[in-house]
Amino acid sequence: MIQIDQVTRVFKEKKKTVTAVNNVSFSIEKGEVIGLLGENGAGKTTLLRMIAGILEPTSGGISINNLDVQKNPTEIKKTIGVLFGSETGLYDRLTARENLQYFARLYGLSRHHTENQIELLATRFGMKDYLDRRVGGFSKGMRQKVAIARTLIHDPQVILLDEPTTGLDITSANMFREFIHHLQNEGKTIIFSSHIMEEVQQLCEAIVMIHKGNVVYNGTLQNLYKEEETDNLNYIFMSKIVRGNSID
Ligand SMILES: Nc1ncnc2c1ncn2[C@@H]1O[C@H](COP(=O)(O)OP(=O)(O)O)[C@@H](O)[C@H]1O
Ligand SMILES: [Mg+2]
Repeated sequence: MIQIDQVTRVFKEKKKTVTAVNNVSFSIEKGEVIGLLGENGAGKTTLLRMIAGILEPTSGGISINNLDVQKNPTEIKKTIGVLFGSETGLYDRLTARENLQYFARLYGLSRHHTENQIELLATRFGMKDYLDRRVGGFSKGMRQKVAIARTLIHDPQVILLDEPTTGLDITSANMFREFIHHLQNEGKTIIFSSHIMEEVQQLCEAIVMIHKGNVVYNGTLQNLYKEEETDNLNYIFMSKIVRGNSID
C-alpha cells in the first residue's frame, strides 16, 4: 500500500550538506503498524514529512495506493492523517470542538459528517467534558487528545505519527499506545516514529530502524531477534549502529 523507493533527501545549508535520508526503500502493507526507530537526527521526521507529501525528496519516489504523493496532493491528503510530535497545530483561542470543525472544513467534510465524527472521537478519547472549552487552557495530555482527534477527523486510511508520546506523562502515553492498538484493529495502516525501544516492542510487529539516514534493519522484530540471537532491542540497536559506523 505504501511504497518508498530509493528516497534520498539532502539539505543544503550555507557551507555544509546534510543527507538526512539516504537511499531508503521499504514497503508497507495495508493494516500494518510500522515503528520507525532511530535516535535524534536519524532522519525520522524528514522521512515522515516526505511520506506525507509535505517535503519533496531530492531523489526517489513515494506512492500510496499506487498514487505518487507528489503528483496527487489532493487524493493523498484525504488518505492520510498526520501528527508531528508536539506541533499540534491547534488554535488556542478556539474550543476543542471549533478546532475539530475547522479541520473538518479543510477536508471538505459535510456538517452532518463532522458532527458525527466529533461525537465519535470525543467519546473514544473521553473528551466530552471539555469539548466546548478553549484549547488554550488545556494540559498537555488533553491537547494531545484533541490533536489526535484532529488527525483522525476525516477517517484516514493511513496514519503517520511522529514521536507521538514524546513529552506526554505516563498515563497519556499509555492511553496513546492503547489507542494505536485500537486503530490497528480497525485495519488502519500506521507508521509511527520513536526513539523508545520498549514502546516499539509493545506496539508493532515490524520495524524500520534508521541511523544517520540509512535503514539498518527493515523487517519483523521476531526475525530480528532470531538473527541477532537476543530480544534485547536496545543491545541490538547499539550493535547495529556500531557496525554501521565501522562500514563508513
Ligand atoms: N529543514 C532542514 N534544514 C537543514 N537540515 C535539516 C532540516 N531538517 C532536518 N535536517 C537535518 O537532517 C537530519 C535528520 O533530521 P530529522 O529528520 O529531524 O531527524 P529525527 O526526526 O530522526 O530526529 C538532522 O541532521 C537534521 O539536522
Ligand atoms: Mg524528529
